[in-house]
Amino acid sequence: MIDNDSVIKLEDISFSYTGSDIQVLDHLNLEINKGDRIGLIAPNGSGKTTLLHTIMGLCKPDSGTIKVFGKILNNEKDFLQVRSKVGLLFQDSDDQLFCPTVLEDVAFGPLNLGFSRTEAIDIAEKTLKRLGIQLFEHSVTHKLSGGQKRLVALASVLAMEPEVLLLDEPTAGLDNKVKKKLIHILNSLDISYFVISHEFDFANAVTDKIYSMENGRILRDDEIHIHHHEHVHQHGKHPHIHK
Ligand SMILES: Nc1ncnc2c1ncn2[C@@H]1O[C@H](COP(=O)(O)OP(=O)(O)O)[C@@H](O)[C@H]1O
Ligand SMILES: [Mg+2]
Repeated sequence: MIDNDSVIKLEDISFSYTGSDIQVLDHLNLEINKGDRIGLIAPNGSGKTTLLHTIMGLCKPDSGTIKVFGKILNNEKDFLQVRSKVGLLFQDSDDQLFCPTVLEDVAFGPLNLGFSRTEAIDIAEKTLKRLGIQLFEHSVTHKLSGGQKRLVALASVLAMEPEVLLLDEPTAGLDNKVKKKLIHILNSLDISYFVISHEFDFANAVTDKIYSMENGRILRDDEIHIHHHEHVHQHGKHPHIHK
């Protein structure tokens, strides 16, 4: 039976990097449904990036199943299809942007999806305008500031009109002005998204529920007691349980 509301479903996913005996994902389960806006806050090294790369087929799980829109993904062809529906905003914008100018970078996705050059440029221009960054259109991408690059990277993902967005620490290194802009953009989207963040205030401003991750598994919001106060111990800045 296909569940029409299911966007992404990970069942019992385990993964360790080749040559490492650390189980980064350990029988992990995660469900993202239509309309979900979920945040994930967990310490460095918890496996958050690995989790997103697994959904995109960039890390191959040792066991478990990945379903996107109800369909089990088995091979590279399945993942290729998924990459046009699931947009990943990389932790490092330089991993996302590789063309000489902003317009080319944002047009690259639509071109790859089969749009003509004129159509792709038109989509790119509209997307830049929508994010209020059309002034950068002819800028040289690698000369932009970190914040500008992040917005261009987001434009390059949104230009592909994904049905779900995965964002890997989108506010890292951003000043408050760009952060506010990002909050505004995310809140104006009408697609599901899953956003990894270190910042509780940001995650709280753009999501409806916040999960955490521990020992290779997701802890849902009914399993964590989220609170925000000063701590002296290691997990102080993240949602955690006091046992
Ligand atoms: N390419 C890699 N090869 C081996 N180990 C890796 C690799 N990438 C990440 N790791 C390890 O996997 C664990 C999870 O990393 P990562 O998914 O980047 O965590 P997070 O995004 O939560 O900081 C860490 O222990 C990290 O050192
Ligand atoms: Mg990471």
